[in-house]
Amino acid sequence: MAPGANAARTEEDEGTTLDLDFAQSVLAGLSAAPKTLEPKWLYDALGAKIFEAICELDTYYPTRMEMSLLAARAPEIAESLGKDLILIEPGSGEGVKVRLLLDALAERVAVYVPVDIAAEQLVFLAQSISAAYPDMLVAPVVADFTGAFVLPSDLPDGERVLFFPGSTIGNFEPDEAIALLARLREESQADDLIIGIDTCKDPERLVAAYDDPVGVTASFNKNLLNRINRELGGTFDLAAFRHEARFNAEKSRVEMHLVSLAEQTVTVLGQPIAFAEGETIHTESSHKYAPEDFQALAVRAGWTPDRYWIDDEGLFSLHVVRA
Ligand code: AVI
Repeated sequence: MAPGANAARTEEDEGTTLDLDFAQSVLAGLSAAPKTLEPKWLYDALGAKIFEAICELDTYYPTRMEMSLLAARAPEIAESLGKDLILIEPGSGEGVKVRLLLDALAERVAVYVPVDIAAEQLVFLAQSISAAYPDMLVAPVVADFTGAFVLPSDLPDGERVLFFPGSTIGNFEPDEAIALLARLREESQADDLIIGIDTCKDPERLVAAYDDPVGVTASFNKNLLNRINRELGGTFDLAAFRHEARFNAEKSRVEMHLVSLAEQTVTVLGQPIAFAEGETIHTESSHKYAPEDFQALAVRAGWTPDRYWIDDEGLFSLHVVRA
């Protein structure tokens, strides 16, 4: 699951109960100028599924590159860590990437602590990890890691390692990213952080990763309008908006927008929202960092850069930083 995903509510909940945080955030974002929607709302049950499909796309290189970096470098990463490790993964989701690490760390992880707001998925992950690594204790925590969370109080002593793959940190504004990395360190009392970071590259390649020819990313973005219609009685006509991915060179980020194709008024929870033709809703930013830029950001969050690995094409980097 991705940033602060809000999947603790089940599919049946969606559309039957009013999520006040969602309602307030959407009304505030659509009343602002320019209009924005927080990216965490992209991940309802369907959005999370569409995101999994994005990760399979040829054009969406980050997942592929990070998996192959992890597979190749996990043994070296493992060597740089001690024994009796406590591995903590905020936003663990399906836990596909952590298995690459666990395979290399083998019996050196004493406890794995996946943290995710999607309770059902978390239980499933805990069970499957326990079955695959029977000597390891799995201590799942249901929490939204973008807010404060508490780790189990009875964790044994040992080196604490945070695992934060997927370049998820890129979905936060740099100041928020620094605050989050600092808070994760403090809350988990971690000694090390292993983190995946997408690099800045040719804008054409970047935009293609966020505007695939099949339209999967477009449906991911537009699903947010569907969600507003379903959960907040919105009247968005999906055909009256188009998905756009833009590279913002000044901010070194790819932005997702929904562009209004006409002058129109939409209502959300009974409140009219006017759109000019061409006006956009900014739904997500994905910041890209050169390795040394990420290291500088980590330093500002109180971490000390140690090593990083990058693929031959320079598409994606995997960092180890220490507390
Ligand atoms: C979850 N996150 C790191 C993805 C990204 O690349 O920013 C979300 C995404 N949005 C569109 N495609 C993928």
